[in-house]
Order: sequence, then structure tokens, then C-alpha cells
Amino acid sequence: LWLVLGIRRRQPGEPPVENGWIPYLGCALQFGSNPLEFLRSRQRKYGHIFTCKIAGDYVHFLCDPFSYHSVIRQGRHLDWKKFHFATSVKAFGHQSMDPSHGYTTENLHQTFLKTLQGEALTSLIDNMMENLQGVMLQSDTLKVSSDWEVDGIFAFCYKVMFQSGYLTLFGKELGKGDKMQARQEAQKALVLSALENFKEFDKIFPALVAGLPIHVFKSGHSARENLTKSMLHENLSKRENMSDLISLRMLLNDTLSTFNDTSKARTHVALLWASQANTLPATFWTLFYMIRSPDAIRAAREEVQAILESSNQKADPKKPCLILTREQLDNMTVLDSIIKEAMRLSSASLNVRVAKEDFLLHLDNKESYVIRKDDVIALYPQLLHFDPEIYEDPLTFKYDRYLDENGQEKNVFYREGRKLRYYYMPFGSGVTKCPGRFFAVHEIKQFLTLLLCYFDMELVESDLKAPPLDQSRAGLGILQPTYDVDFKYKLKAQ
Ligand code: HEM
Repeated sequence: LWLVLGIRRRQPGEPPVENGWIPYLGCALQFGSNPLEFLRSRQRKYGHIFTCKIAGDYVHFLCDPFSYHSVIRQGRHLDWKKFHFATSVKAFGHQSMDPSHGYTTENLHQTFLKTLQGEALTSLIDNMMENLQGVMLQSDTLKVSSDWEVDGIFAFCYKVMFQSGYLTLFGKELGKGDKMQARQEAQKALVLSALENFKEFDKIFPALVAGLPIHVFKSGHSARENLTKSMLHENLSKRENMSDLISLRMLLNDTLSTFNDTSKARTHVALLWASQANTLPATFWTLFYMIRSPDAIRAAREEVQAILESSNQKADPKKPCLILTREQLDNMTVLDSIIKEAMRLSSASLNVRVAKEDFLLHLDNKESYVIRKDDVIALYPQLLHFDPEIYEDPLTFKYDRYLDENGQEKNVFYREGRKLRYYYMPFGSGVTKCPGRFFAVHEIKQFLTLLLCYFDMELVESDLKAPPLDQSRAGLGILQPTYDVDFKYKLKAQ
């Protein structure tokens, strides 16, 4: 009967199993409605590791942060690629990017490291700074004046970050001829239409990852197809000032792969999603918490002011051309701590590996567990981020949580008197750690710096409670707010 129902019985040496009550789905619905509560209650019942059947897969949840290392560093028995490649195909519909499937020989991991870190990061940052100032002050994206303007914080962050990030990665299509203004208008319309399509597609993203076919979603489907069309190589090649990431990926699509034209374009849509989907809500939470906390915004203002003074620059909205070097950005420890704290409170990523073969997983407490081939092992770092033994008062935003007594980055955290190796994981872990994380933090710092330089800002309703996290995206990264929060902004008096 167990076999007929597809239900697993615990074998000697295996973690405790929960099959759930619904065939195939198992515990998926309970997990999906509130992953943190679900995992906490099972952790209380079973301990450091337990197995849940979720949508046909057996997932071992490892909840002891001192044992994370054995999964993060366990290269031999665990595969991270299969899951990632399969998820990307489900969501974006390109041909497989897994070299073992024969469509490409590109080592994507290397492409990402080469084009998002090291030297390449400097030009990404420089272009982003210019684009942010252009979008904020020189386009009519925002209503900029010396009178208060009201907008939703999420809507504001979306407009500014999406457009600037898009231009930074995909460059500009200005074309030739002398009607500069008309070309700029056309360029702006293109970016705004990408923004609308992105928003529509992003809504159905969790459903696609869960395995639903895209045809079920009419507008989400057409939004993805519109984005795909705009990223066909024949269209991208008209663009100037493209990032190394996209130009190298175009070259490798054309030289190392047998992808058809649509598949090539879909691989770029995947990168647009990776570069925006987490950054947009992360920027929202950072700005929201910073404005709401008088201490945070005061400390941030002082830090930004000191940077401007030390480099002899003055913010002039009529000539918006502030420059911050990478070193200056790296030294902004207050903004860094604000961003980290906002992401600690809003991140809900799931770190997943698949067992390549049967093996023994060794935990920190010297226990070992039998893991079967093809089983999934998952870490859910929100358990860490909301653990009161690591972070006192874990639901409260404390802007200086990641600052030490000298105002430098604090990187020593304890649990039960033991120093933790892993205490902050919104960017994932080990080999699958986000390759764009340095760019992501820098662009949010640039955004905050520019806002603080050019604008006065206030919440419309001070003392507001933080909006709840939208759990429908749990597991996918930074969660969005369930509703937007209004703030007002105006140009600073010169
Ligand atoms: C992957 C987080 C911004 C590019 C990931 C992963 C996470 C993540 C959790 C998956 C790790 C895993 O599966 O274990 C974030 C957060 C961001 C952010 C929280 C912003 C706050 C960015 C940006 C870019 C980017 C700005 C690029 C410009 C990528 C890429 C991958 C990735 C290419 C796939 C890596 C691979 O599969 O090898 N990110 N990310 N991310 N991210 Fe980010």
C-alpha cells in the first residue's frame, strides 16, 4: 500500500519523514502558506533534520546552522546545477543551458563571475551611477520639484531601479540621425514597456517555478514573449554601451551554443529577471526602513555628507553628475548595515542541492543520516535570520546591527556561545551564491546616496507598521510587501 500511494517509510539511519495527507503534494500546501512556521514546528518536533514530501520530491530540511557547512561544502555527493537549470527552463522557456544536454558548452558560472565581479564591476557601477541620476533627475519619470510629491515607496523604487538597472545591463538604443529628442522618447518608451512586461511576467513567476504551464496565464505569457522579442540578438545588437555580461553572453550564445534565436533571447530575459526580481523589493525595504527610523536616516545622512565633503562634490540637481568610487562605496558602512538589516528582515530564499548518490550526511553534533540518491536537501536561512538567539529582538529593525563599536562591519555573531560561520544568507551559499551580490549592494547604496543628496523625504504617515511579507514568493528570494507605503519627497533647498 505504501508503494501504491507513493509514500516513503523511514529506513534505519534516515531522518524522520512526514508524508503529509495529500497524495503527491504531501506537505506542499502547509509549507507554502507559512514556511517559517511550518519549519519551526517540525524542528521542535523532530530536531535538526527531517524529511517532508513536497510536490512529489522528498526534501530534507537541515535546520542547524552549525551543520550548514556540511551541505554548503559537500561538493562530491551533491548537485546544485540540475535544479537551477531545470528551474530556469520552466520559468523562461529556453532550451537547456546544462552543458550535459548538448545545446551549449558555455560555463555560465564562469561567465557570471567574469562579468559581474572584479574589473567588470567598476564599469557596471559607473554606468549605474550615471543612469540613476539620469532617471531620477533628467527624465520625466519622477515629478521633481521643490514642492512635496507623494508616491508609493515600492512604485518609486520600481520606476527608478528598473529603468537604471535595465539601461546599465542592456545599454541604450539611440540610433543615428539628428532628431535627438525623438530618439530619447522612443528609448524611454522601450524601457517603460519592458518595465510593464516585467511586472506582469514577475507576477506569474512563482507559479511557473511550481511547474504550472505558462499557457494558463494569458497576460503573463504575452508579457514574457514581448520581453523575448525585445531581446532577440537583432534588436540587442542595435544597442550601445551594453554591459560585459550581456555582450559576452550574446557572443557565447552565438559561438558555443546551438540555441535557436528565441532561446538565445530567452536567456537574456532570465538575466533581466535575476538582476531585478530581488533588487526591487530589497530597495523598497531598505528605503522604507531607513525613512521610518530617525536614527537610521540621520546616520545615513551624516555618512553621505562626509563622503561628498571628502571628495569636494556638491549635489546640484541641474547638473546631476555625482561620482562615487568603488572604494568610497565600500567604505559606507552605515548604508551597508541598513541594507543588510533590511534584507535580513525580508529575505526568504531556499538553498537547494540534489543528492547524486546515496550517502551519509554528517551533522555538527556527530550524528549521521542516510540520504538517498535524487533526494533534495534544503536550507531555509530565514530560520537563522529570525532566530532570537542570534539576533536579539529579531523582528525589530536596528540600523546598526551590522556595525561594530568602531563603526566598521560587524561580522561576528554567536549562537549558544558559539561563533557562527553562517549568519546572513540572502544571497545563497557556496557555489550557488549570487554572482551579482556586489553589484546589487552597490546599486542600492548608490540609490540611497543620491536620494539623500538630492531629496528631502518623509513617510506620509509616520510611525507606520511594516507591511507584511508576501509569502506567495517564499523560497524565491527577497519577498515583496503585501501593499505599498506612501512617502513624500521634494528637491532639497540649495
Ligand atoms: C542567483 C539573490 C541581485 C545575478 C541568485 C540567488 C540568490 C540571489 C538567492 C540564487 C542562489 C541559489 O540558488 O542558491 C539576490 C539578491 C539580490 C540579487 C537578494 C539583490 C538584492 C542580483 C543582481 C544580479 C544577479 C543585481 C545581476 C546583475 C544573479 C545570477 C544568478 C543569481 C546571474 C544565477 C547564478 C547561477 O545560477 O549560477 N541571486 N540576487 N543577482 N543572481 Fe542574484
